[in-house]
Amino acid sequence: MKPNLRVHIPIRPATNYPIYIDDGLLKKIPQWLSDHYAFENIVVITDHRVKKYYGLSLVDQLKQKGYRVILLAFPAGEHSKNNKTKQQLEQKMLQQHCNRQTLCLALGGGVVGDLTGFIAATFMRGIAYIQIPTTLLAMIDSSVGGKTAIDTPEGKNLIGAYWQPKAVIADVACLKTLPTGLIINGLIEAIKMFITSDLASFKYVQKNIAAILNKDEKMLKNIIQRAVNIKADIVNQDEHEKNLRMILNFGHTIGHALEKITHYQLLHGYAVAYGMLVEAKISEQLGLLNPKKYLIIQSCLEKLGIFAKDLKKYDIDLMIAATRHDKKTKAGNPHYVLLQDLGEVHHPQDRFAHMVDDKIVKTAFLTITFAPTSM
Ligand SMILES: NC(=O)c1ccc[n+]([C@@H]2O[C@H](COP(=O)([O-])OP(=O)(O)OC[C@H]3O[C@@H](n4cnc5c(N)ncnc54)[C@H](O)[C@@H]3O)[C@@H](O)[C@H]2O)c1
Repeated sequence: MKPNLRVHIPIRPATNYPIYIDDGLLKKIPQWLSDHYAFENIVVITDHRVKKYYGLSLVDQLKQKGYRVILLAFPAGEHSKNNKTKQQLEQKMLQQHCNRQTLCLALGGGVVGDLTGFIAATFMRGIAYIQIPTTLLAMIDSSVGGKTAIDTPEGKNLIGAYWQPKAVIADVACLKTLPTGLIINGLIEAIKMFITSDLASFKYVQKNIAAILNKDEKMLKNIIQRAVNIKADIVNQDEHEKNLRMILNFGHTIGHALEKITHYQLLHGYAVAYGMLVEAKISEQLGLLNPKKYLIIQSCLEKLGIFAKDLKKYDIDLMIAATRHDKKTKAGNPHYVLLQDLGEVHHPQDRFAHMVDDKIVKTAFLTITFAPTSM
């Protein structure tokens, strides 16, 4: 067939947005907005918990600055990250006469960020939004990079869009109210980035782990900055995860499988931590990673209360079956990001994800589950 005409759209202009990380930024947002943008109205989207901690006061401050503000909140938790919540929020926005000049503020953890980002991507075919992350995971990972999504009964994050925010504003002071389990949950994603890309930062975490868990603000800020640097650099090179961005999936093939078989009862970060142990052991068993380096990772995670022996409670065959649903699966074969050293992934000919035989995965899983702990 021959086309009658051809549509030619020049490549989108490059996206460029600032990331602010500091203590006390929430109260500076109204002034910052009026210095940078002229939006008619603002929708603050948050969950019920974050609304109480930070949402109401942010809305008050925005109103004092003269903005027309709508505050929308939904029940906290992953179970809200779905099409039903999205539709309800959009309906309220339409009823409140939001339009293409509306700015969305995503105030909360990764659930709020992913959901609000996806609403912004589709509302009136795309409106502006700003990420204001309040969990450590959202500050170091989900707020940067423009991946937005909702979950469906078939799996997590299966419907979504790439839609970059206008800015990311991370107020480290918000972490004061975050429970320790969620600090660990976020820290694991930072550790993952350091293990794959930045040995010096990995050593920094190892050395300061107690102070970090004690929520030392200076150190948390430092960790966030280091992790965001890595994430932003990777996204700059490969926004759509064609190759390099895949390295952010280290620990995630097994991690996602564990989340699936536990019906998402296991927190994402913890699932990824177990995933990193199995995938580092696979790297070792394939002769890519020195066994001593595996032990260093193991001992670092043990300091966070994550022990390989706890993997015993999961059914290995169910877990391997679940790896087939991973997004990196090609022709039915799950793929893995592997390590060749601490701070360095295995990437022959710029291939960052590799097929691994199920038997090797099983051996790695059983070896670490029944090995003695290093503490
Ligand atoms: N888009 C991406 O690139 C990306 C990357 C990683 C993870 N994610 C997504 O992020 C989500 C997980 O994010 P999360 O771990 O932030 O979970 P979350 O958004 O559910 O937040 C966890 C809990 O912490 C509460 N909370 C948030 N901030 C708080 C604060 N400062 N003080 C006290 N409580 C607070 C929330 O109300 C919620 O109950 C998942 O849906 C995951 O798929 C997205």
